[in-house]
Amino acid sequence: MNRLRLLLLMLGFGLAGIQGGVLAADDKPQFGAANRDKDCTRCHDANDAKPVLAIYQTKHGVRGDARTPGCQTCHGDSASHIKDAPKNKPDVVFSKGTFEVSDDKTRSGQCLTCHTGKSRNNWDGSQHQNNQLACNDCHKAHAPADKVMVKKTQTEVCFTCHKEQRAQLKKVSTHPTEVGKVVCSDCHNTHGSPGPAMVKKNTIVETCYTCHAEKRGPFLFEHQPVTENCANCHSPHGSNIAPMLITRSPFICQSCHDGPHTTDSPVGRNAGGFQSGLTQNATGSNPSSHATGRGCLGCHSVIHGSNSPSGGYFQR
Ligand code: HEC
Ligand code: HEC
Ligand code: HEC
Ligand code: HEC
Ligand code: HEC
Ligand code: HEC
Ligand code: HEC
Ligand code: HEC
Ligand code: HEC
Ligand code: HEC
Repeated sequence: MNRLRLLLLMLGFGLAGIQGGVLAADDKPQFGAANRDKDCTRCHDANDAKPVLAIYQTKHGVRGDARTPGCQTCHGDSASHIKDAPKNKPDVVFSKGTFEVSDDKTRSGQCLTCHTGKSRNNWDGSQHQNNQLACNDCHKAHAPADKVMVKKTQTEVCFTCHKEQRAQLKKVSTHPTEVGKVVCSDCHNTHGSPGPAMVKKNTIVETCYTCHAEKRGPFLFEHQPVTENCANCHSPHGSNIAPMLITRSPFICQSCHDGPHTTDSPVGRNAGGFQSGLTQNATGSNPSSHATGRGCLGCHSVIHGSNSPSGGYFQR
């Protein structure tokens, strides 16, 4: 046995001895996040104004799980705070109270030590990260139930900042959001996404297809704006024109189509091809069948795409 190994062996025995001695003297079990909590919970106990100990009822309180964070995993060792509170502040402060709140990067950094990757691959550079949000601007660690994780209560959290979407969801035609059936996180990955407006998939259509698969086709005749972006015609958060349309037919169609028979243009009507023989104005004293009732949809009724051999114009 060389001298180094002997030294290490002695050191090992020595440490074991010291540890055993400490255990016996202080009656402290093994170090571990959950047990170390005692350094904090001797002051922050059930009498705290805020229900700090409710964390033990959450996924962060599963004592048997070695990955479970303790008070100090999130708030830092906070040695000076333990020694002299409230004169000294804890290392990491997440919420407004007695002390100044730590900056967003520090706060998120604590969570990201365990929660990198997966749905958070695009957190850095996301609109939320860029606007100095931290994880706990949405997630509550000490609440028995984290509102943002529960479909029925999630929108409350988002609406504290997104008033415009709250207003849109009060309109006549909306997704069944209020009953908790389709919520923000069904379409958005609020941790960040490579797609526009932080939608879950890379594009808006792909996101909508996850539930509206029948709109994907494949169709013999595709309608270009449908394959491009559902939001060309639909307002995904709600509208007063069912079903969640940006504007009414025929105006919605006329915003893109000004060709033959779609307007009152003499060029169109005299240009051969289809002629309805009607005034095709949507307004005026003698509105056409194109403009009344279901407008263009009266004839072009399968607007998302058609498989009928004679349906090249989105008719049945
Ligand atoms: C000696 C008692 C004591 C110990 C030990 C202690 N704290 Fe505190 N802590 C306080 C007091 C007093 C305050 C001031 C606010 C209050 O009354 O809750 C405070 C405030 C805090 C705050 C900020 C709350 C706010 O309203 O701003 C956090 C976070 C905190 N402590 C975490 C910890 C953590 C984590 C530990 C263990 C590492 C710990 N404390 C240990 C007494 C203590
Ligand atoms: C020491 C590692 C660790 C740290 C630090 C940590 N967590 Fe966790 N977190 C976990 C573990 C373990 C789970 C349980 C995972 C499971 O059940 O699969 C979890 C679960 C969660 C969940 C899911 C809860 C649910 O109901 O499904 C959320 C949300 C979460 N953590 C947010 C946070 C936030 C926010 C922070 C920072 C304030 C944080 N975590 C810090 C380890 C950690
Ligand atoms: C803008 C609000 C918001 C912010 C900020 C936010 N989250 Fe989330 N988080 C959510 C929502 C909503 C869900 C539920 C997603 C779902 O059901 O698909 C969620 C789910 C989670 C989950 C559980 C599911 C999973 O993806 O593993 C973890 C863990 C989590 N968040 C951690 C974090 C961490 C860490 C941060 C900070 C880097 C963070 N969150 C920032 C809103 C947010
Ligand atoms: C998963 C990370 C995490 C762990 C573990 C954790 N905290 Fe917190 N703590 C937070 C966050 C985030 C907040 C901000 C309020 C919230 O999210 O509920 C907070 C807030 C607090 C506050 C301020 C009161 C409040 O609700 O705003 C105190 C005091 C506190 N924690 C003490 C503790 C103590 C004591 C422990 C151990 C029993 C502990 N924390 C464990 C993340 C954590
Ligand atoms: C059915 C899917 C869907 C749901 C549910 C949904 N969104 Fe969106 N959201 C979108 C799409 C698609 C866009 C992009 C709209 C566009 O480009 O016109 C968007 C855009 C946004 C924007 C950017 C501003 C804007 O309006 O273009 C915010 C903010 C937003 N959503 C927040 C929310 C919030 C908060 C919720 C929950 C209350 C929510 N969204 C629910 C699909 C959805
Ligand atoms: C603390 C405030 C806050 C909370 C809570 C919050 N957001 Fe945001 N969100 C912002 C800010 C700030 C921006 C960037 C500026 C903007 O676009 O309004 C943003 C941007 C967005 C965008 C992208 C907008 C775009 O133009 O690309 C979406 C989508 C979004 N938030 C959805 C949500 C959802 C869903 C929730 C709830 C799970 C939520 N937010 C919670 C503040 C918040
Ligand atoms: C999580 C699933 C889900 C996603 C994702 C989704 N939807 Fe929906 N959508 C629904 C449900 C559920 C309904 C209600 C169906 C019902 O009431 O029969 C609905 C209804 C609709 C309606 C008809 C509303 C009415 O009044 O008849 C339109 C239009 C619509 N969605 C468009 C979209 C668009 C555009 C997207 C993408 C931005 C999208 N949806 C993403 C689930 C989803
Ligand atoms: C060119 C405009 C336009 C585009 C783009 C569009 N829609 Fe529509 N959508 C409509 C119109 C108009 C209606 C009403 C049809 C009717 O009343 O017959 C409708 C109705 C719906 C409905 C309810 C009735 C039904 O057919 O199920 C859903 C769901 C829907 N659209 C989803 C989508 C999805 C998902 C996308 C993207 C893949 C999309 N729409 C793209 C114009 C459009
Ligand atoms: C965002 C723009 C946009 C909107 C809104 C729109 N379309 Fe289109 N539409 C197009 C484009 C682009 C084409 C493909 C044009 C081409 O192939 O020359 C197309 C093709 C068509 C065609 C087939 C034309 C052909 O020659 O095969 C019909 C019919 C049609 N649209 C009807 C409608 C109706 C009805 C509406 C209203 C419900 C509508 N469109 C709304 C952009 C739009
Ligand atoms: C009375 C039934 C009817 C109505 C209403 C109608 N269309 Fe058509 N549309 C047709 C028929 C039939 C064709 C095929 C023309 C052909 O075979 O030459 C057509 C062709 C088209 C085309 C492709 C050829 C072209 O002229 O560009 C477009 C685009 C179109 N319609 C858009 C519209 C729009 C937009 C409206 C509402 C303003 C509308 N249609 C209303 C029956 C109708």
